[in-house]
Amino acid sequence: MKFSDRILQVKPSPTLEVTALANALKAQGVDVIGFGSGEPDFDTPAFIKEAAIRAIESGKTKYTPVGGIPELKKAVIQKFKRDNSLDYRLNEVTINCGGKHSFYNLMQVILDKGDEVIIPAPYWVSYPPMVLLADGIPVIVETAEENGFKMLPGKLREAVTDKTRAVVVNSPSNPTGAVYTRSEIEEIARVVEDRDIILISDDIYEAIRYGGADFFNLANVSEEIKKKSVVLNGVSKTYAMTGWRIGYMAGDSSIIEQVETLQSQSTSNPASISQWAAVAAISGDQGVVAEMVRAFERRKDIIVGCLNEVPGFSCIDPDGAFYVFPGVERVYAMKGWPRIEEKYRSEFKSSNLSSYLLEQAKVAVVPGIAFGSDNHLRLSFATSDENILSGIKRINAAVQKLM
Ligand SMILES: Cc1ncc(COP(=O)(O)O)c(C=O)c1O
Repeated sequence: MKFSDRILQVKPSPTLEVTALANALKAQGVDVIGFGSGEPDFDTPAFIKEAAIRAIESGKTKYTPVGGIPELKKAVIQKFKRDNSLDYRLNEVTINCGGKHSFYNLMQVILDKGDEVIIPAPYWVSYPPMVLLADGIPVIVETAEENGFKMLPGKLREAVTDKTRAVVVNSPSNPTGAVYTRSEIEEIARVVEDRDIILISDDIYEAIRYGGADFFNLANVSEEIKKKSVVLNGVSKTYAMTGWRIGYMAGDSSIIEQVETLQSQSTSNPASISQWAAVAAISGDQGVVAEMVRAFERRKDIIVGCLNEVPGFSCIDPDGAFYVFPGVERVYAMKGWPRIEEKYRSEFKSSNLSSYLLEQAKVAVVPGIAFGSDNHLRLSFATSDENILSGIKRINAAVQKLM
């Protein structure tokens, strides 16, 4: 079968693959502990489910306007006002089938062949493929652990060319948990303020922050910067609603209009029932979110503490999201490491280490190379305290064997 060059340049999402592999092993009866998953392990709160049931029972089961029901658009506008002090009009927001779909749609409507999108690394696995699927070129800007994995303005300046169409900022970040401060966001905005470049703020982990870390958005910098900014968000991570597939976008009305045109010829509207559930989530009692964040924070403290006791691992404390991104370079220098390279034979060390941990420790983690850094692993702590404690103990024992 002949397939398009477009699809052949893209690989399946490695995070979804790790989760599928862990689930397949579990189904065979293997006692695997999974740290791969990018979703809260909590159930969707009851009042949100009830709103969906009410939607079904009252016949809200038909096509909706392409860009979402006005009730949800209004709830999103209220949310931006309430949480971000940002004002948007109805024609400046649109609802998509998940945050991933929002980013995909955006790439499709703003990129032409050869246009560049600047992405700081470590990055969410799906940004570069979605740029490629729109015939664009992902331009990766490296960040350093000693700068908290945040993009320095000087590095951004060096990466900007006449072909730069957009810059992505994801704060809190998947996979590093980095949260940009107000002044860091302002400095990034300053680099591109005089250029025709779109600033993309992926805020999907906005609500999940620790230790009082403040949230500041590119669109908050000034009215001028807001005009150049597109803000992406969704209900997946905040309300444990990954399966409902609702994301949203706010920005210049001309961009929103094009996204809705694309959506009208591709997915049509997001699921009507999920939209009603999202109205309840966004405008309902936000206490459920605080409760989940408290549990994540406790688990973060456990996992960071345990990982820093694993020989050769060093793990910084994330300020947000539900991932840790420990450095494992010192493991690659251990006496037993050549044996691992010999056995698993990936060109990437972090893939070899992940394969070893799956086979030896029965623990599923995602290789850092999937996020653009081969010296790290990513572990999600959206799992129980018991899983964290016994999973990291197993990793510790497996790594001890390499010393
Ligand atoms: C950084 C980032 N942005 C966006 C998304 C999209 O999430 P969803 O499509 O479930 O809304 C994810 C999910 O993993 C993510 O990690």
